[in-house]
Amino acid sequence: MENNKIQIFDTTLRDGEQVPGCKLNTKEKIKIAKRLEDLGVDIIEAGFPTSSPGDYKSVQEISKSVSKTIVCALARAVEKDIELAGNALKYAKKPRIHTGIGTSNCHILYKFNSTQEKIIERAKLSVKYAKKFVEDVEFYAEDAGRTDNNFLAKICENVIKSGATVINIPDTTGYCLPEEYGKKIRFLKENVTGIHKIVLSTHCHNDLGLATANSLFGIINGAQQVECTVNGIGERAGNTSLEEIVMIIKQNPHLNFFTNINTKLISSISYLVSDCTGMKVQPNKAIVGINAFSHSSGIHQDGIIKRRETYESINPEDVGINESSIILTARSGRAALAYRYKKLGYSLNKRSLDLIYSIFLHYADKKKEITDKELKIILEKANLNNKNNKILHSSNKKKRIINVV
Ligand code: KIV
Ligand code: ZN
Repeated sequence: MENNKIQIFDTTLRDGEQVPGCKLNTKEKIKIAKRLEDLGVDIIEAGFPTSSPGDYKSVQEISKSVSKTIVCALARAVEKDIELAGNALKYAKKPRIHTGIGTSNCHILYKFNSTQEKIIERAKLSVKYAKKFVEDVEFYAEDAGRTDNNFLAKICENVIKSGATVINIPDTTGYCLPEEYGKKIRFLKENVTGIHKIVLSTHCHNDLGLATANSLFGIINGAQQVECTVNGIGERAGNTSLEEIVMIIKQNPHLNFFTNINTKLISSISYLVSDCTGMKVQPNKAIVGINAFSHSSGIHQDGIIKRRETYESINPEDVGINESSIILTARSGRAALAYRYKKLGYSLNKRSLDLIYSIFLHYADKKKEITDKELKIILEKANLNNKNNKILHSSNKKKRIINVV
């Protein structure tokens, strides 16, 4: 099977930023855009110029600051939106307009009070109008997840004829199951005339926690682009998380996909986005959560200390984290305690480890986590408690051997 490049379309600055309380200013957006370019994303969706003068300016400034990556601006299927997007992208070396309209019955009826025929006409007109500003025009069929596949195929065929270069199939409400979403993409690949001329894109929301799984099924069934955000931020429960889909592809070479992402920069961009948006990353978040490479139970710690692969399938260095963490809690065992003391420069023999471990458990039962500072206090205490059976350590030696005498 041929090795397939999957294009990473990052929408952290547009869909990601549409989250209550995480507004980014132009300076922050430029900083993130430059780091996204370093990360190796293929497309940066920089904003929605019609939404505010600030966002228009951000798209304009990002267009000037980024050189290798495609810069994309969102526009509804409305002339004014498209015009503003085209103007904001004037300085972009590789501009793309992302325009579209709702295609599900729910959207056609309740949002637009319209008909399928009229929606197709608006879709065609909007793509044709966007082509006056840029060559690269992406069309989105909003709520494609709940759109009838035959109608979706019809609208896709029409926008391809009008000049669309990319077609986005958003599961806007996070409604689809992975198999269903995959079948939708396969159906379009097999039933739309001209589909081989364009790039088919996934854009999945996480309302049921299936955004990444749906994107994966999308590419397995023929999509060549994934729309995603750093840390999975976005409307409601968020979007497909960039780090998840990229690492799934990297960890599974048998899938025969690859991306252009320098995965070693994933951890640092995750921090930057969290810092700028004020959106904390949940500790157990895959790849970028603080606990993603931390181990606190005795059995796991013992395994990890012997060989990292026993309890980690991803190498933390691959995502820019130096090493896994051994966290000391009341569930930790002697191996972890000895390991952490060794890191502080103390090498414990069996008897002293047994003694210190019993004091450690006493502390750990009262606390969530035992720090290095507390480990030193425990050591002092072990010495005090054992005046006749003293644990010796010579602080002038780099590596201190601790013996019970
Ligand atoms: O979720 C969605 O449908 C979108 C479109 C505007 C692309 O974000
Ligand atoms: Zn979206």
